[in-house]
Amino acid sequence: PHKKINSICCIGAGYVGGPTCAVIAAKNPHVKVTIVDLNAARIAAWNSDKLPIYEPGLDEVVKTARGRNLFFSTDVEGGILDADLIFVSVNTPTKIKGIGAGFAADLGYVESATRKIAEVAKSDKIVVEKSTVPCRTAQSMRYILEANAKPDIKFDILSNPEFLAEGTAISDLFYPDRVLIGSLDTESGRSAAASLADVYAGWVARDQIITMNLWSSELSKLAANAILAQRISSINALSAICEATGADIDEVSYACGLDSRIGPKFLKASVGFGGSCFQKDILNLVYLSESLHLPEVATYWKQVVEMNEYQKRRFTNRVISCLFNTLTGKKIAVFGFAFKKDTGDTRESPAITLVNYFREEKAYISIYDPQVDEAQIWMDLTEPGVVDETEAVKRQVSIAADPYKAAAGADAIVICTEWNEFRDTALDYQQIYKEMKKPAFIFDGRLILDAKKLGRIGFKVETIGRPR
Ligand code: NAD
Ligand code: UGA
Repeated sequence: PHKKINSICCIGAGYVGGPTCAVIAAKNPHVKVTIVDLNAARIAAWNSDKLPIYEPGLDEVVKTARGRNLFFSTDVEGGILDADLIFVSVNTPTKIKGIGAGFAADLGYVESATRKIAEVAKSDKIVVEKSTVPCRTAQSMRYILEANAKPDIKFDILSNPEFLAEGTAISDLFYPDRVLIGSLDTESGRSAAASLADVYAGWVARDQIITMNLWSSELSKLAANAILAQRISSINALSAICEATGADIDEVSYACGLDSRIGPKFLKASVGFGGSCFQKDILNLVYLSESLHLPEVATYWKQVVEMNEYQKRRFTNRVISCLFNTLTGKKIAVFGFAFKKDTGDTRESPAITLVNYFREEKAYISIYDPQVDEAQIWMDLTEPGVVDETEAVKRQVSIAADPYKAAAGADAIVICTEWNEFRDTALDYQQIYKEMKKPAFIFDGRLILDAKKLGRIGFKVETIGRPR
């Protein structure tokens, strides 16, 4: 017999903790779910009408449960005290200093949340590692909890990695391919896993909830992201061959994807993948491989990230060479700044890299994105702590209120994000063409435009993965 969960606390009200636990609350009306965070502004936003993250369908889910059995709070200790089960869903960025800098994950936030649990807990808890972490982190969490806990308090540690993608988080959570729960292979571990499985069984079929050992579960998360990113780098590498020959990457990807062993998803060529996790998790896997004295394995995975950097550079070079080998003084309209459509998130967005390259070439850049806040764009284009840098950036970069204003007077449009509103069926490209310098170029980094149609208007269309 395993324990029934009545109260859940989630530490970390971010892109993962917020949507995941809001769905858990919506689907389990009798379980109290409290999402806590140290960031008071973020909690205030979760309690307001303008949620801190843009995610289709999220508003409805939050409205269903908030105030009923879903609460957002800065009272981390209260949340811990009250809970039977605690999700640790804090950030795990790549270390920027010290040993493993540039590769290893910074586990400082996970550790401080874990220490807080040990310090505060007055009853047994199931502690669930939701953040993406290097293998064996659950083990470290156990040491910390056991070394600091009050006498007679028992902790079970589970790994329950999250597979949602931003922009589709709610449907990914409603209809997951699988829910993964890792535990120790002991009676107590299996019982804790069964308790968590019951929470998911509120809406997920039992056969999609799979259990395995802790290390398999931790590694599966890194592995899944690495394999997904590898598919993108593979198709992007092929896009370079397409551009140099007469092949069309969309056709190649379609042909390959029809093979049921390959499948059609994650084969869309692009300016490069972005997002907070792919690069971070692969670098993490590279670091793990190196720590395990497996240099060939490390090199293999590292190449996925290197190919991604190459793709961004290669696309920039194409822009420069098409624009008669100089961007000096030219105006480039950047359509889209988020790392993918349907999110306002810009972490590791390829648009940041491209804008920085264009700046180095002395271009003027006008950016339009339907969801990204202005302040976020300035933050992404400046180094933290560098005084007056924003002023320097603003001499070259401006933010436009709509795509028409961004493109007015521009020499080129560069599509960085595949927002539906940039499609030729949604925007009046005839109008845009009139207001641009001639020849008017469009660089489609996301393969969303009908090049022939735009060509008839007069545009010079350059598409990633298609010959010039
Ligand atoms: P995030 O930065 O949006 O959110 C993390 C939150 O944790 C922040 O609001 C921060 O203030 C809070 N926090 C940090 N330390 C805390 C502490 N000690 N006490 C209370 N709050 C604390 O990060 P995210 O995108 O939600 O990612 C969280 C984890 O989930 C990461 O490990 C990430 O790799 C993983 N993940 C992310 C995604 C995604 O799509 N973003 C998907 C799957 C997994
Ligand atoms: C990714 C994974 O898809 C999730 O399963 C995982 O949970 C998550 O990382 C995580 O661990 O954070 P996410 O980064 O939110 O999700 O979004 P994706 O849809 O995977 O897109 C990542 C990047 O790859 C985007 O820049 C996207 O434009 C790009 N991409 C994606 C392509 O260039 N081509 C494709 O075919 C697919």
